[in-house]
Amino acid sequence: VKPGAFRKGLCAAAIALGRIPGLSRIGREGARLLAGSYKDRRFLGGLTGRPWISPRSQYLVRGEVRFGHDVFISDGCVVHAPEPDSVLAFGDRTTLWDGCLLQIGPGGRLAIGADCHLQPGCVITAFGRVEIGDQVQMAPRCALYPYSHDWSDGTRPIREQPIRSKGGIVIESDVWLGYGVVVLDGVRIGKGAVVGAGSVVTRDIPPGRVAAGVPARVIGSRGTTEPGPWT
Ligand SMILES: CC(C)(COP(=O)(O)OP(=O)(O)OC[C@H]1O[C@@H](n2cnc3c(N)ncnc32)[C@H](O)[C@@H]1OP(=O)(O)O)[C@@H](O)C(=O)NCCC(=O)NCCS
Repeated sequence: VKPGAFRKGLCAAAIALGRIPGLSRIGREGARLLAGSYKDRRFLGGLTGRPWISPRSQYLVRGEVRFGHDVFISDGCVVHAPEPDSVLAFGDRTTLWDGCLLQIGPGGRLAIGADCHLQPGCVITAFGRVEIGDQVQMAPRCALYPYSHDWSDGTRPIREQPIRSKGGIVIESDVWLGYGVVVLDGVRIGKGAVVGAGSVVTRDIPPGRVAAGVPARVIGSRGTTEPGPWT
């Protein structure tokens, strides 16, 4: 449902009310309720020039953070970057739908480009580096893990051994990850690639290819391996 000017005005007023010290929660809850339900609320991201971070999400960033215009973080999301040396960036019009979890560890870096959509329940744990291009679509419950626990010392619990990263994850522009895709450390998914539902990506996928399975293998292409001019 496209919001009318009246509804937008009410929401903007509620957000403005929330800028008064002590009224932040009330103002943002008011805007959330007035905006409608679920995806109808998307316009809140572009309403004030600041990102919309739902009052029903948990947001803590102590490191560097950059927001483009019209960023929307929906209910139930957790954005947790407690370390001062972490870096987090969201491009213009990027959306996190309900229940996404973004966690950034010490020295971690997570950069998400413009016009990306993370559908409900996506998980990115950036203990390492994760770079996501523009117009990347992630279906529900995708997970990006740019690290593993070290388990090589069999005399000590895995819990006590360090985390290691082989260089992180790069997802280039215009990639579509189907439902429940898991992307592991050291992987680059090329421009315009498609990854089938339930796949586990352990190796690079070249641009414009369709890959699927566990482990993911190329099963086809989008008709051209040359990405379009929009990427
Ligand atoms: C990957 C995908 C896009 C491929 O679609 P397609 O080109 O029409 O592929 P086909 O159905 O012709 O399948 C081609 C082969 O790949 C296999 N395959 C397709 N998707 C697969 C998957 N997700 N995992 C494993 N194998 C898969 C098929 O079994 C078939 O194998 P076969 O030739 O041995 O029979 C599609 O199967 C898919 O997974 N879509 C994701 C849907 C989704 O998650 N939607 C969320 C909305 S945001």
